[in-house]
Amino acid sequence: MTPDLPFAELGKFISAKRALDYVQPDMKLGIGTGSTAAWLVRLLADAQNHGLKFNACATSNQTTTLAKSLGIEIHPLDDLGQLDLAIDGADEFDPALNLIKGGGAALLQEKIVETAADQLVVITDASKEVDALGAFPLPVEIIQFGWKTTQRLVERMLVDADVTGRAVARRGGENPVITDEGHFLLDLQLDRINDPAGLSRSLLDIAGVVETGLFLDMTTAIVVGDGSGSVKVKKAGDADWKTDAFDIDAHAELLARIAP
Ligand code: A5P
Repeated sequence: MTPDLPFAELGKFISAKRALDYVQPDMKLGIGTGSTAAWLVRLLADAQNHGLKFNACATSNQTTTLAKSLGIEIHPLDDLGQLDLAIDGADEFDPALNLIKGGGAALLQEKIVETAADQLVVITDASKEVDALGAFPLPVEIIQFGWKTTQRLVERMLVDADVTGRAVARRGGENPVITDEGHFLLDLQLDRINDPAGLSRSLLDIAGVVETGLFLDMTTAIVVGDGSGSVKVKKAGDADWKTDAFDIDAHAELLARIAP
């Protein structure tokens, strides 16, 4: 029987399930943030209940809370050191597997964890695939002190670089969103980023900017689940995707066990 889950959620489950193939016993893992990564957490908890051993750190308070609630011990990154593997979602990816991340406000811890991992496997769906990054507003984490000045300097840098766009402070209702590290976020509305590496450097040159949501040259492989029953994988350096069927009905029992 096909599980009663929205199509998009099934796609996220399929991505996360396929990414589990990269996890080997006793690995040191970095666990990402977001709704797709939440499926990974549930699958890891289930695998742990069936005997898989691993040591994990998380990329946000949100992921830490979910993982602990399911019985996964979350270690400080510094206790684990270099990680074998990080698995995380993305807000956008391009043909070179460069990413925009940070829609869930966790980009700083995500980047710290994922640059400390030998491999980064990205779990996502086809709606995040673009020819060029930038349709998704680029999150930029900034220091609270003088944040309006930083916002102004970011906008001036965009003008100087001949990039059309705005830097909008992310709010949750009336108030600015505060990240796990106590910072604010700007979302850069750019439509298209022609030079991601150059933009990343220019942003990081501004004193109040802590980190950007551009994850460039970091991805080992992207796994894209499709809720109708397939999964495609592209590895860094490959021109083509490898697509496989995914038998959803064969996973009905697992889904029933782990679905929220
Ligand atoms: C968190 O800050 C982001 O980088 C997430 O990885 C990204 O927003 C993907 O989230 P979903 O899996 O919910 O789309």
